[in-house]
Amino acid sequence: MKPALLERLRCPLCGGRVRLEGGDSQVDEIESGELTCESCSGHYPIRRFVPRLVPSSNYSRSWGKLWLETGHLLRDSFTGVPFHENVLHGLFREDPGADDGRSPFGFAWPRDLSGQRVLEVGTGTGNLTEHLVRTGAEIVSVDMSEAIDTLPTELLRQPNLNVVQADINTPILEPESFDRIWMFQVLQHTPSPPDTLRGLKGMLKSGGEIAFTSYGGERFRAWYYPFTKRLPDRLAWRLIAFLVPRLVPLKYRLMKRRIPVVSSLLVKLLAPIDPRDIYFQTLEGEADRYIHGAVWNRTGDKDLLMKYIVINTFDRITPDYTNSATHATVERWLLDVAGFSSAETWGRSGVRARAVR
Ligand SMILES: C[S@@+](CC[C@H](N)C(=O)[O-])C[C@H]1O[C@@H](n2cnc3c(N)ncnc32)[C@H](O)[C@@H]1O
Ligand SMILES: [Zn+2]
Repeated sequence: MKPALLERLRCPLCGGRVRLEGGDSQVDEIESGELTCESCSGHYPIRRFVPRLVPSSNYSRSWGKLWLETGHLLRDSFTGVPFHENVLHGLFREDPGADDGRSPFGFAWPRDLSGQRVLEVGTGTGNLTEHLVRTGAEIVSVDMSEAIDTLPTELLRQPNLNVVQADINTPILEPESFDRIWMFQVLQHTPSPPDTLRGLKGMLKSGGEIAFTSYGGERFRAWYYPFTKRLPDRLAWRLIAFLVPRLVPLKYRLMKRRIPVVSSLLVKLLAPIDPRDIYFQTLEGEADRYIHGAVWNRTGDKDLLMKYIVINTFDRITPDYTNSATHATVERWLLDVAGFSSAETWGRSGVRARAVR
């Protein structure tokens, strides 16, 4: 973290100011040290440039080698496909685009945001972060999970980026201090989306804008989800990494052969393994416009394809919360619960939204 962030960071327990102990603040970048709350007894380590404001964080290495090896796989800088770039800067178009810079997300944020302060909620493995830093804005990117430990040092040390490991539903940052908030594929995974939105409104300056997505529809139903969401993350990760390469080819054969009743039953049973049927769609040429399809067409690398499936499976079946919402519900949250002054939602498959404080 940059020393200047000390002024803006707050204690997650009480919202008090924090001071640095056991670290050098006379450097461009604080690599390690400890933050102490000036109002309560909170202590928080800084590890690998990142203040860790979560109660107990498992160090990611324990997730295994594969975890650290997969962090970069979805980033545009690896895939060569401008998927996330178009999400952030492209114009909206309902269907996955050809090469015209449009996107089924398409938030059309300006490419130059110098002079602005942007809060990114849900860094994940940095898929959007690597584009946000290029806007020249001052970015604070927050994620509560160890996903951030996959970020390369080079990204963490960008002069206009601070990454913070924390729960965004705790008072970790100076209120009313951001011009924009970016939150992609995160809201549905928070325990109470309307409360999250209300809290985030408090982070914006007056006239500031939030842009985010949410799963659409009434409810996320999948027979396995009540079970898989309870698995501890590390165990789930290991299980998925072990089972995917073994069971996905079987699922593919079952989907192709279609023995009446038997196939559909077994496929249903195998639903938590590759829930979006990425393997089938990729091999059948139906995924050319998606990241994994494009990478497969270029490399033909089956191990790599399996890694995409592992990541996607993990993402889909393990979150503690998966809250869907209709467009009308999201608008009600924004205007009636959170009190934004204006709000807009769009998109057929899922909700894209923006609102102004
Ligand atoms: C599906 S990932 C999306 C990551 C990234 N935005 C992207 O699109 O690639 C959701 C991320 O949100 C983070 N997250 C969920 N709830 C959070 C919270 N309350 N505070 C901070 N991060 C949260 C998770 O840890 C996870 O990394
Ligand atoms: Zn405190």
